[in-house]
Amino acid sequence: MRPIAGVSLPTAVGALAILLLVAAVGPLVHAYDNGVARLPPMGWNTWCTDDICGLFDKCSEDLVRQQADALVASGMRELGYRYVIMDDCWSAKTRDDEGRLQPDANRFPHGMRALADYVHALGLKLGAYSCIGTHTCRNGLPGSFGHYATDAETFANWTLDLVKTDNCAKPGQFTDQELFTNFSHQLNKTGHPMLFALCEWGVDNVEEWGGKVGQQFRVQMDHLPAWWLPTHGAGKGYGQGTWNIIEYVATLKPSSFVRPHAWMDPGVVMTLFPTFTVQQSRVEFSFWSLWSAPLVIATHVNNMSEAKRHILLNQAVIDVNQDPLSVAGDRLYNHSDGSQLWARPLANGDAALILYNNQLLDLFGNVTVTVPWQQLNIAAGSSWVMIRDLWSDMTWNASTADTFQASVSFSDALMVRVTCSAPPCIKSMGRLNYQV
Ligand code: GLA
Repeated sequence: MRPIAGVSLPTAVGALAILLLVAAVGPLVHAYDNGVARLPPMGWNTWCTDDICGLFDKCSEDLVRQQADALVASGMRELGYRYVIMDDCWSAKTRDDEGRLQPDANRFPHGMRALADYVHALGLKLGAYSCIGTHTCRNGLPGSFGHYATDAETFANWTLDLVKTDNCAKPGQFTDQELFTNFSHQLNKTGHPMLFALCEWGVDNVEEWGGKVGQQFRVQMDHLPAWWLPTHGAGKGYGQGTWNIIEYVATLKPSSFVRPHAWMDPGVVMTLFPTFTVQQSRVEFSFWSLWSAPLVIATHVNNMSEAKRHILLNQAVIDVNQDPLSVAGDRLYNHSDGSQLWARPLANGDAALILYNNQLLDLFGNVTVTVPWQQLNIAAGSSWVMIRDLWSDMTWNASTADTFQASVSFSDALMVRVTCSAPPCIKSMGRLNYQV
C-alpha cells in the first residue's frame, strides 16, 4: 500500500449522512462494574492456541506456568497482557464428592489454588472456562447449571480473576439473559472480584444486555483460523473468519454499546495461524484494537516468531486499544470497490483510523481509500493534520483542505493515528461522559 497525501477527490457521496448516523448517540447503558476491566482485558487463552480450535487443546499446570513465565520474559506483561486463561480443558470429568468442580488431577496435580498463587506471584491473573448449561461445549465436561452458587464459591476460593462462561447444553425454559444474570449474581455474591466473560455468541442480542451482567461479551460464534468462511450470522454456524467478523461488527455499530467495564468480544486473536498472511494478521489486530476489544491471543507466547512479536507487541496499536476514552470505532463508509473507512476518537484529541480494502481476491488491483477530512467531520476545524502509520511508523503532514488517500491491496489495511491542529480531531463521535 502507498499513501498519497494531498490529493483532492470528489466528495464522498453520502459520507456525511453515514457519519451523522454513526455519531447519533444511542441510549446509555449502565455497565457492570465490580472494579475490574476498566480497560479492555488482554491476555492469553488455551483455546485455538496454534491449533485448529480444540484439536490438541489439553491444558495442564505445566503449560499454564510456561505461558505465564513467557508473558513476563517476553515483555508482554508490561504491555498489558495479564490474563492467563484455561478454556474447555482443565476440568475433571466429574464433580467431587461434595458436588464441586475439580481440575483434572493428572494434569493439575497441585490444584488450582497453587496455580493461582504461582500466576499471581508473577503479577498476572488466572482465568478459567465454565459453561452456563449442563455440559461444556467441546469436551462435554461438567457445566455449571444447577450449581451456579457452588461454582462461584469454588472459583472465588481458588482466587480466580476471570470466569469465561460458554453457552452450550442449556435447559430450554430460560433466556440467556436470565441464565447469565443469575450466574453473574452468584459470582458477585462471593465478594471476590472476577471478570465475567460471557461467551453467549450474540444469540440473544447480547450487546444490549451483556455489559450489565459481565465485563465482556462475545457477539458471534467462534473466531476460527480462517480469513473468510461461509457465514450464518451471530449465534449460527460453527464460526467466522476475520473478514466475516469485521463485516458483522460494522452492522452492530460498536460505539453505541462498548464502554468501560463492557467490552465487545469478537473472539480470540489468531495471529499468523498458517492460514493467515502477515497483512491479514495485522488487519485483525488493528480492528480488535480500534474496537477496544479484548486482546486475548491464541498463540504460544514462549515460541513466537519475530513476525508475531512485531504484531502482538506493537505498542502504538495497543495504545489505541487501551485508550482511556474507551470508545469503539465505527465504519464511516463501505464503498462498492471494497474501500472502507473506520474511525474512533482518542483521549488526547487524536483520532485512530483504519483504511481497509475488504476485497477477498486480487481481481481489480489495489483500491484507493480516501479520507475526506472535512466531509467526514474528521479534523473538523483543523487546518493541518499529522498522520502516523502505526505499523510502519512513518508520518506525513497534510492540509485538511486536501483529501488523504492510501492505495490498499486486497484484505489489507492501513491503521493511522491522526493528530490535528485544533483537537479533538473528531468532534461528533463517541461518548465523553459515561455512566458506569
Ligand atoms: C465454544 C466457545 C469457544 C470455546 C469452546 C470450548 O465453541 O465459543 O470459545 O470456549 O466452546 O469448548
